[in-house]
Amino acid sequence: QALNGQTEKRANSKKNKIVLGFAQVGTESSWRLANTKSVIEAAKEADIELVYDNAEQSQEKQIEIIRRFIKQKVDVIAFSPKTETGWETVLQEAKEAGIPVILSDREVNVSDDTLWTAYIGSDMTDEGRRAADWLVKNVREKEQYRIIELQGTEKSAPALGRKKGFDEVIRQYSQYELLSSYYGDYTLQSGRLIMERALQQYGDRIDIVYSHNDDMALGAIQAIEDYGLAPGKDMILISIDATRPAFQAMAAGKLNMAVECNPLLGPQLMKAVRDLMDGKDLPMKIITAEGLFPMETAKRELHNRDF
Ligand code: AHR
Repeated sequence: QALNGQTEKRANSKKNKIVLGFAQVGTESSWRLANTKSVIEAAKEADIELVYDNAEQSQEKQIEIIRRFIKQKVDVIAFSPKTETGWETVLQEAKEAGIPVILSDREVNVSDDTLWTAYIGSDMTDEGRRAADWLVKNVREKEQYRIIELQGTEKSAPALGRKKGFDEVIRQYSQYELLSSYYGDYTLQSGRLIMERALQQYGDRIDIVYSHNDDMALGAIQAIEDYGLAPGKDMILISIDATRPAFQAMAAGKLNMAVECNPLLGPQLMKAVRDLMDGKDLPMKIITAEGLFPMETAKRELHNRDF
């Protein structure tokens, strides 16, 4: 009898657990791997049942995963949208099923903002702005600087924001000229490939490489070295994320600066999920505070990095 009681109690407590469906976008970068780890660990810590799936960079697959979560009647859905657009229908389905949706690290562009509940992540436009601000304050001796931009996934919120913020600042200074922007997909391989293309096109006329994430910057470093130039010296390289591999590249003198984009969003996400389930109102945007690291700080900061 006692045993039966215990089993029943356990079954009930399992039933009472909050269930969160999380549709990750992919495994493209060190940032993304750290983000996934943070979400999984934070769910365990918060005693929230996590139903996790990964869309491997396919918007169709991400929509399918969200539809499965709706069918399973999870309590809350969170996802990192691959692109900004194309979510109206599936978000409407979640709304009709009464399941709140939290956007994790990437925003969406939909006509009806009541289709999602909250956004947790960085201000991507500000990251681009801060990257450009650092340039105009710190790289200014030459009369003219020619820039190559390595953009993230086409139509993704970070690619759009980081371009917009950067352009906003750069266009105010005639000393800087944006030669060309290339789309990558946030992977090291794509960074290497598009940097090779840029070098074929412009060779050593390139003065500055602005990469939308660290993995693409690391790929660009390889391409520049293969071309026979020294990244960080012959060409200034700046990037966004500030992950451990970027700090290593900065410590080696190959990357000049990284703007931080924090992937450790798991604890904030779990808090938001609990608050929602407790009936509290969430702020529409929960923006993470982030730093900026020039290469001179890398050796000191490297061991503080946990992503
Ligand atoms: O959405 C955040 C971006 O996606 C990170 O900057 C990039 O590394 C990742 O893949």
